[in-house]
Amino acid sequence: MILQHRKKLNILLGLTIAGALIVQSFNIQQPKPKKLVNIKVFPATATYQEVDHAMDQFKVDLGVKCNYCHAPEKDNPRKNDMPSDANPVKEIARDMIRMTNEMNQKYIASIKRSDSDTTKIQMITCNTCHRGVPKPFGKPLPAPPPPPPGQGPNQGPKPNGTVGK
Ligand code: HEC
Ligand code: HEC
Repeated sequence: MILQHRKKLNILLGLTIAGALIVQSFNIQQPKPKKLVNIKVFPATATYQEVDHAMDQFKVDLGVKCNYCHAPEKDNPRKNDMPSDANPVKEIARDMIRMTNEMNQKYIASIKRSDSDTTKIQMITCNTCHRGVPKPFGKPLPAPPPPPPGQGPNQGPKPNGTVGK
């Protein structure tokens, strides 16, 4: 009786495990590798992950969200249509990538360094200029603080020995 019971239990257990495995093998769909569609400046060898990673960096360096450069999807405006070029800012960003690459290749990479200088070369990034804003240097510089008394122009000692006006 006990033996039979155990046999039943084993079969039941076996079935449960087999069932779980089958369910699992149906559930684990290989995620499709995402394809890049409309790439004009990133190297042709760039993977989706690499482009995606660069995008996260743009977001931080410019202090914006993805939709600052990407247009909304036509059918679902709450989602971005990443390959679309409908947002004109995307093309400005392409030029910015070209500009940054050129500065690095033409000027930064060729800086002569002594053999003893082992510090890493700091390449130019979006953040070198942007520092967390989409339009760097867009605001006029704040007016300089007034000079301390007696040090501004026309405030030095006058020929008659008096100071100021
Ligand atoms: C500063 C502008 C800018 C921001 C912000 C930005 N992107 Fe992009 N994104 C671009 C540009 C420019 C390209 C096209 C690059 C090229 O042509 O080589 C691009 C391309 C892409 C692509 C490839 C689309 C394709 O053609 O297959 C994906 C995916 C993408 N971005 C995702 C994102 C995500 C996600 C974010 C937010 C985390 C983001 N982007 C933020 C400018 C931006
Ligand atoms: C050498 C400095 C410099 C670098 C490096 C740089 N930018 Fe810019 N960027 C600027 C300046 C300055 C402006 C503002 C131009 C203006 O007033 O319209 C600008 C404007 C932009 C704009 C347009 C903003 C708008 O709303 O009109 C985008 C997008 C942009 N940059 C993206 C990038 C990205 C992405 C990178 C890195 C790949 C980058 N920039 C690297 C200086 C730089």
